[in-house]
Amino acid sequence: MSEGSSTDFGFERVSPQDKTRRVRGVFDSVAGNYDLMNDLMSAGAHRLWKRFTLALANLRPGQRALDVAGGTGDLAAGLARQVGARGLVVLTDINASMLERGRDRLIDAGLAASLEYVQANAERLPFPDNVFDCITIGFGLRNVTDKAAALSSMQRALRPGGQLLVLEFSHPTLPGLKTLYDAYSFRVLPLLGRVVARDEASYRYLAESIRMHPDQPTLLGMLQAAGLEGCRFHNLSGGIVAVHRGYKY
Ligand SMILES: C[S@@+](CC[C@H](N)C(=O)[O-])C[C@H]1O[C@@H](n2cnc3c(N)ncnc32)[C@H](O)[C@@H]1O
Repeated sequence: MSEGSSTDFGFERVSPQDKTRRVRGVFDSVAGNYDLMNDLMSAGAHRLWKRFTLALANLRPGQRALDVAGGTGDLAAGLARQVGARGLVVLTDINASMLERGRDRLIDAGLAASLEYVQANAERLPFPDNVFDCITIGFGLRNVTDKAAALSSMQRALRPGGQLLVLEFSHPTLPGLKTLYDAYSFRVLPLLGRVVARDEASYRYLAESIRMHPDQPTLLGMLQAAGLEGCRFHNLSGGIVAVHRGYKY
């Protein structure tokens, strides 16, 4: 399903083409500081959220995985350790600067044997049907213009029995957390962006895009609409983040 002739870029309404172009601009701008900012903004919690996602992936040596919107490659690194040198992990991202950083980091980590790199839009993944045992997308779906197209594209590339794992910011469910989280997102994040990365606008977009992202039940429905089965989600850190999981049968 297409998202129509206008879509959200943070709190703004823009054309779909404009969103794709502006998201590219954000990640061109943040690529150099991306890993440092992730650690600072989440106080290291993003590592735990990724570890939880990788525990759900639970791949066996020799299996094949795809990390979509994989950026600097944290999830791809964990997947590569699970599948070993006989397996395959494909790291994809729409943005050349992020993908280049990911490739350099994975080579430095000694994981090159099982990895391949493909610059691709999640909405139109250039892979045959039914190939991957597991597909992950970490903090990526929020940035994709046509999320339904991306979910269908990932469903298509999964092999029967394979699973999709969507790790993404979500909507706090703990009473009282939302007020605190809003203050942090709209005051502290842009300030951190300005002081550390000299880029306030990109970190304001981060806070706004999180608010605009579908909540847990809505995203669950989108996975089901894309043909995934056995769908469920796990809230992490009081719902600040959620991992949605669905299978292709
Ligand atoms: C917040 S980063 C996440 C990187 C990594 N997965 C992680 O968890 O650290 C989001 C990534 O999504 C990528 N991205 C945005 N739109 C995309 C699209 N339509 N298709 C593929 N990647 C996209 C960006 O280039 C960026 O690298």
